[in-house]
Amino acid sequence: MIEEKLQEIRREIEEKILGYDTGKALYEFRKSILDNREGKLPALMKEMKNVPKEERPAVGKRINEVKDWIAARFEECEARVHKLEIARRNEAEAVDVTMPASLPQTGALHPNTLVKNELIEIFSSMGFEVYENSEIENDYYNFTALNTPKDHPARDMQDTFYVSDEFLLLTQTSAAQIHAMEAKKPPIKILCPGRVFRSDDDATHSPMFSQMEGLVVDRGISISDLQGMLDTFSEKIFGEGVKTRLRPSYFPFTEPSVEVDVSCFACKGRGCKLCKGTGWIEVLGAGEVNRRVLENCGIDPEEYTGFAFGMGIERIAMLKYGVNNIKTLFESDVRFADQFKD
Ligand code: PHE
Repeated sequence: MIEEKLQEIRREIEEKILGYDTGKALYEFRKSILDNREGKLPALMKEMKNVPKEERPAVGKRINEVKDWIAARFEECEARVHKLEIARRNEAEAVDVTMPASLPQTGALHPNTLVKNELIEIFSSMGFEVYENSEIENDYYNFTALNTPKDHPARDMQDTFYVSDEFLLLTQTSAAQIHAMEAKKPPIKILCPGRVFRSDDDATHSPMFSQMEGLVVDRGISISDLQGMLDTFSEKIFGEGVKTRLRPSYFPFTEPSVEVDVSCFACKGRGCKLCKGTGWIEVLGAGEVNRRVLENCGIDPEEYTGFAFGMGIERIAMLKYGVNNIKTLFESDVRFADQFKD
């Protein structure tokens, strides 16, 4: 009886043991045979009490033999499964050193930022101090104090976004001139970069764009100081040999007012597509600070004079990098920005 059951256990082991390929499954199988509580072999041992006394030593010996065989058989298989598991893990964790590496994505500065930084650097080297304006502005600072009262026709030059009767989205960084002159006495030499807003939208105009304002107020400042400074600035930003030219223009807060052109850096003034055949490119507005503006800020125009200038940062970026639609600068296409990596 017992011998038959021993054979049965042996057969079961032989049949199944090679089918296990994980340590956990093999362990469970071993438990079902050898575990003191659940195992088939310990259960068989309990039947010893039914074996006649004289046969017990022989049957006991036989059970022990089978038990030894089982233990050896499991040990062998455990070693095999252990190797298998290591091989499997190595395979799963394998690293293919020939795979192309995924390079970290690096950013690039936007052309607007590049131009803004360059302008700040150029003007700081001439002693200008950066002064920032808020984007929501009082009508007084954006227009009235700049000699543009409510019914002034020059207000039509800038289609304004009003937030309320009194407040508006800054339409020109020129508002910073008033804040600066109210805040300190001359000498004043400030540079104000900022975003401005106008209801205007086509290939060269965007409802939001950036400007850079400059203001110098001191004793004896004249338009020739402006021209001298512009010559230095133009060569630094557009390249050596670039000249400037002043054309009469109109802004309510400057008198006289000028439009500043630079000689075309693409064709050296011979005439090309960029300068529309004229040899000159318009880059900024400027002029001598209107005495009424000085007066509005409590500065005596008999004692002090000054000049101001304002330019569009996108316009400079478009000229410098050959961008022909301003929208490209605002689309946030990384492929565009990528071209400006160092
Ligand atoms: N604020 C003017 C504009 O936005 C530019 C300007 C600034 C002109 C300073 C003269 C002096 O068009």
